[in-house]
Amino acid sequence: MKVQKQVFKFLFRLTLFISFVQIGYGNQSQGLNDSGGLLSAKQHGDLSFMLPYEGLTAKLGKRFVKGHEQFDETWVLAPAPGVWGLGPTFNEANCVGCHPKNSRARPAKVGEEIEKGNVIKLGYRDGDGVVSPAHPWYGDQLQNRAAENRVPIEGSANISYEYTQFIYPDNTSVALKRPVISVKNLNFGDLDDSTIVSMRIAPQVIGLGLLEWVSDQDLLEIAERQKKQGLSGRPNYVVDLETDRLVIGRFGWKAAQPNLKQQTAVAFHADIGATTFFFPEKNCPKIQARCRELPSAAKCGGQGGCTGNNFRPEVLPSRLKNITTYLQALNIPKRRISNPEETLQGDVLFSESGCASCHVPTLVTGVNTLTKELRNMAFHPYTDLLLHDMGEQLADHRPEGTANGEEWRTPPLWGIGLVNEISGGLGLLHDGRAASIEEAILWHGGEALSSRQKFVNLSKSNRERIIQFINSL
Ligand code: HEC
Ligand code: HEC
Repeated sequence: MKVQKQVFKFLFRLTLFISFVQIGYGNQSQGLNDSGGLLSAKQHGDLSFMLPYEGLTAKLGKRFVKGHEQFDETWVLAPAPGVWGLGPTFNEANCVGCHPKNSRARPAKVGEEIEKGNVIKLGYRDGDGVVSPAHPWYGDQLQNRAAENRVPIEGSANISYEYTQFIYPDNTSVALKRPVISVKNLNFGDLDDSTIVSMRIAPQVIGLGLLEWVSDQDLLEIAERQKKQGLSGRPNYVVDLETDRLVIGRFGWKAAQPNLKQQTAVAFHADIGATTFFFPEKNCPKIQARCRELPSAAKCGGQGGCTGNNFRPEVLPSRLKNITTYLQALNIPKRRISNPEETLQGDVLFSESGCASCHVPTLVTGVNTLTKELRNMAFHPYTDLLLHDMGEQLADHRPEGTANGEEWRTPPLWGIGLVNEISGGLGLLHDGRAASIEEAILWHGGEALSSRQKFVNLSKSNRERIIQFINSL
């Protein structure tokens, strides 16, 4: 039985390999296969992004359930009842506050405060023109909430939009909007021209384990192939805080985090304000004295008591592990295909327009997977996890790791057809500016300009087929 399975896997990889060689990696069509391989949910609807991989062992299943609870659990300021360690400054009190039902945040509406998964990252350009991804007084993210009556908030922001009209050669027009951020209620001084403001929307968090398990080698090979196509995709190199090594970044809009554990620790620190072994210091820039002085729940443990003078993080390692398992085991929804013929045509047009060079249809997991069955498994995320220069219109001018201010990681396209329904609104691209797949495509520039141009020159019905195809993933 086992041997049979191995033979089958070998044949499967061989077929995959042959199809790469025949039509070139990144151009292969996936037909109507489910995107997540074994990690595909059997149903859709509102809960599509919350369903676990069914092949979990009993032990992993328990960890998944625990991780789910902890993803939703609300953090509080000691001594209120709940998990201690919130703030002193923060944006939301739990993960689900920004990733509703594990989906993308709903984009902020005109006049609304920027919150609930829409966040403002900050950068700073010093006198010599050197740019860093943090502001000296406000840090790398603007915290709009704080421990009431004890610590001031950093500030808050509102959103409005600047509109332009795009007109196709066939005269159809589309309104495009771009966010304009106004920062207010600043408690530590004004933000002048040296400040870089980059808005981000919280993405859906499905299928991330699969992306974590792809080997570095595979990603480097894709980058090599892209060079021959005139693209300059490259990995972000970032510090793995556990090993202190430079490794390939995979998560976040600029691929600034190398793995899900570190991404989770960053979220606890930057978004919720809780300490971990990764970030033992509270998230309080030097100038924010009251924030620094407020005693940390970690010093005399909210969760588990005092351990002498030893540092005890507010987020225990077991919590990071549970949430990591939770994220790794979240299924990708099953494909939704109402018209197979048109969907298949959309698939072909997607490749012919050059979209598949970056939104790579097929990747394969390596060997360090959650369960044995998930090893060496092909799946279809439509990403290369690489950074691309997307042009001035999308640039935020804020570097992260080795990513520069024009570069963004190609986001996976699986599941995005369900986001609108689940989140109650659709905000595509890093700052949520695109309310439709079509708008998202029309913003593509830089390396993706010629691909966008091919899309623009298609007939209306062919453009619709590409969109229908993406919606089905
Ligand atoms: C205040 C809102 C907020 C909270 C709270 C929050 N996130 Fe996020 N999350 C974001 C944003 C915004 C991004 C995109 C960050 C970037 O790259 O700029 C993100 C990105 C992520 C990603 C990367 C997804 C990808 O496709 O690469 C993961 C995983 C994630 N968050 C998990 C968590 C977990 C786990 C928690 C709780 C510990 C959490 N988040 C809490 C806003 C939030
Ligand atoms: C050079 C690489 C590249 C090519 C070619 C490319 N894209 Fe993208 N795509 C990206 C990157 C990078 C982003 C994210 C940009 C941002 O967030 O500002 C993106 C974002 C998107 C999004 C929004 C996804 C989300 O989660 O918000 C869609 C939809 C999309 N692309 C579809 C397409 C289609 C369709 C084509 C072909 C016409 C295409 N792309 C060609 C790199 C590429």
